[in-house]
Amino acid sequence: MKTLVTGVRGQLGHELAALSNEIDSLEEHVFTSSDQLDITDRATVIETVNRVRPQVIINCASYTQVDRAEDEPERADAVNHLGAAYLAEAAKKLGVLLLHVSTDYVFGKVSARAPITEQTTTAPMGVYGFTKLAGEQAIRNSGCRHIILRTSWLYSSHGHNFVKTMLRLMRERAEIRVVNDQIGSPTYAGDLARAIVHILQGELTDDKLGTYHYCNTGECSWFDFARAICEYAGLSHQCRVLPCTTAEYPTKALRPPYSALDTTGLCRTFGLCIPRWQDSLRSMLSAHPEL
Ligand SMILES: NC(=O)c1ccc[n+]([C@@H]2O[C@H](COP(=O)([O-])OP(=O)(O)OC[C@H]3O[C@@H](n4cnc5c(N)ncnc54)[C@H](OP(=O)(O)O)[C@@H]3O)[C@@H](O)[C@H]2O)c1
Repeated sequence: MKTLVTGVRGQLGHELAALSNEIDSLEEHVFTSSDQLDITDRATVIETVNRVRPQVIINCASYTQVDRAEDEPERADAVNHLGAAYLAEAAKKLGVLLLHVSTDYVFGKVSARAPITEQTTTAPMGVYGFTKLAGEQAIRNSGCRHIILRTSWLYSSHGHNFVKTMLRLMRERAEIRVVNDQIGSPTYAGDLARAIVHILQGELTDDKLGTYHYCNTGECSWFDFARAICEYAGLSHQCRVLPCTTAEYPTKALRPPYSALDTTGLCRTFGLCIPRWQDSLRSMLSAHPEL
């Protein structure tokens, strides 16, 4: 299956590229960074898709800086909304499947207490959530064959993420405070990449297309997540992790108080078995002692 992947320098793009060496279904692949394929440039998107002629486009490109997006709404919209729309337009024209990645932030304002299903009405919070939702809607409106995978709290050994920030702070400080009143599900980008390959390796009949949720199983607060990082990295003796509230740690963009995602639909449709967040975190940290 010939695949065109955007955003190869990001966490997910990087994990997919790492997997492509092992997995046959991505054997014919073209991985692109923003230098090679800027998804905000409609002409370039259409020219690239025409030239590469993939069977699948995997869109890992995104404007992901949640706080900065509040100051750069046009830039965030250009990537998250218009970029997704251009990919969808090209996919529709050539009959290509578009696998697009979205976020739990489309549910930022939903006051849920149990994992959020695909049927839940979206209620974004902040520029990032609104632009990601606009990207989803543009893809649906384009009429292209698509799968939208919403994910949450993504981390990997590569790029910028909570796990790497915590490891750095835990080595620098004797004590850190982490918010305990925002609940979600951490997701290892390597697991998400494997899930994407699994989905694409199966028979993709039209009844399987649509919107799904993927995150590691289980939920926790950022404080719980940080404590697990500290323990699994063997740093408990040198840094104490203490809980604090969101009010004590204000950020430019508001964060969802609860955004764990229900993955039942994805598991049932594609026969996926998703690892627990604790197991994935532990194995990622032991595979990367250099972090
Ligand atoms: N990170 C999270 O916690 C999180 C949570 C939920 C959902 N998600 C979603 O998961 C997906 C993957 O996220 P990630 O964490 O892997 O993102 P990431 O590490 O921030 O990487 C995003 C990539 O997008 C690329 N990009 C930005 N603007 C672009 C443009 N105009 N054209 C082409 N590429 C462009 C960047 O490329 P360059 O490096 O080449 O500039 C960057 O490598 C995104 O859709 C994100 O919304 C992420």
